[in-house]
Amino acid sequence: MSRTTDPVALDDWYVVGLPGDVQAGRPVTRRLLGADLTLERTADDVRVTEAASGRALPVQTAYGHLWTTLGAPKRPLFAIEEFAEADRRLAPCGAVRVRASGLRLVENFLDMAHFPFVHTDILGAEDKPAVEPYDCEIRRDVDEVWATNCRFWQPQAAAHADGGQMSDYIYRVASPFNVLLYKTCPSDAGRQDVIGLFIQPEEEDVSVAHAFVHVVDAVSSHTAIVHFQQTVFLQDRFILENQRPRLLPLSPRAETPTRADMSSIAYRRWLKEKGLRFGIDRRDAA
Ligand SMILES: [Fe+2]
Repeated sequence: MSRTTDPVALDDWYVVGLPGDVQAGRPVTRRLLGADLTLERTADDVRVTEAASGRALPVQTAYGHLWTTLGAPKRPLFAIEEFAEADRRLAPCGAVRVRASGLRLVENFLDMAHFPFVHTDILGAEDKPAVEPYDCEIRRDVDEVWATNCRFWQPQAAAHADGGQMSDYIYRVASPFNVLLYKTCPSDAGRQDVIGLFIQPEEEDVSVAHAFVHVVDAVSSHTAIVHFQQTVFLQDRFILENQRPRLLPLSPRAETPTRADMSSIAYRRWLKEKGLRFGIDRRDAA
């Protein structure tokens, strides 16, 4: 397909990689919203151009990643305040291509009910499958979706976890294709690890997931942190690629909601309000 015409999708910021992906004299190509991009290293920055038109696109580096836009975002990139804390470690966990809508990836990230069955003995245990009630809301002041007071028993909550723990979660959908998770830190009960998924939607049904963790963990090796997240995400990819339809349906009739799906319902409602079309299954649109 060619570049989307959906203005809601165009007017937003997207991750297209890490600054270190682009070396001097070796341009790289990326796909975003159906458009080909060229990334080139300049004297002190990275230049991103839309290949078809040669148009230079806005670029910024934030949260250890490179961001660009094909449109005109109406607000600045969302803030992640924890990036001001110097003792945290950022571990980008690689770019993984998934044959599914980026919106499906966000929805899966929000879903606690799959932990015991997909991430068995890591993020959930088969004998403790219950999702306890939690709170979920669309925060109008920041235009984000938040789920709070989420609790789940986890046998191995993080790379540095030593035994099981009751994890407290806060989920934050900061933009339609970017989602964060604040989670009990196994090594410091007063703080929260930040885990995120920055999604680069290549096509409506093909996405590149840039997962990262930003943790308070003085113990684990970088390799151990990355390996833990990659193990978890590859389990998710298998589920995501087998989900049908690949695009996200918004109709309440399309998939049966359960109590555990409250965050999914709020996310879909929020997307519908925005009028986003890219990545959405429109066959049943009312
Ligand atoms: Fe998962």
